[in-house]
Amino acid sequence: MIRDILRMGDPRLLRISEPVRDFGAPELRTLVDDMFETMHAASGAGLAAPQIGVPLRVVIFGYADSSARNPRYPEADPVPQTILINPVLEPLTDTIEEGWEGCLSVPGLRGVVPRVANLRYSGYDLAGRRIERVAEGFHARVVQHECDHLDGILYPMRMRDFSRFGYTEVLFPEFAGLAED
Ligand code: NI
Repeated sequence: MIRDILRMGDPRLLRISEPVRDFGAPELRTLVDDMFETMHAASGAGLAAPQIGVPLRVVIFGYADSSARNPRYPEADPVPQTILINPVLEPLTDTIEEGWEGCLSVPGLRGVVPRVANLRYSGYDLAGRRIERVAEGFHARVVQHECDHLDGILYPMRMRDFSRFGYTEVLFPEFAGLAED
């Protein structure tokens, strides 16, 4: 079921989400199914459970077809389709990279956000199996963006240079006509 995506200003986006404790719960599978439907309907690169009003530490990101490109991020490296529950991020460098981000909870806007360039992330899949990966570039950026949602952080709260913040259709006219941000 496609769910409504909360938008910036809604206090539910600022909550600290709770860890998942029952990996066998049917509600957890339903939640993840709804998150994928909602993300695909909105052409998003990722989605966190609190964005649909569920305060649990669950994020999804990436694409089933690794050769596919999200039209909103045509230059981005492919990111494996991932369900990540109770994630833990560990930076592997002090290097900070800047890159453009958008968010389904901040529709129509983009901004440049500093992020750690390389990290290790771990967590669990729907079956409670452990996931551990190293990521860089756009993959690392998406993971950091989505996991921030679990701590009530939206990307504008990470920005330092608001001269590089604006409406997608003004900043990137070539994206005009694509699905909402
Ligand atoms: Ni977001």
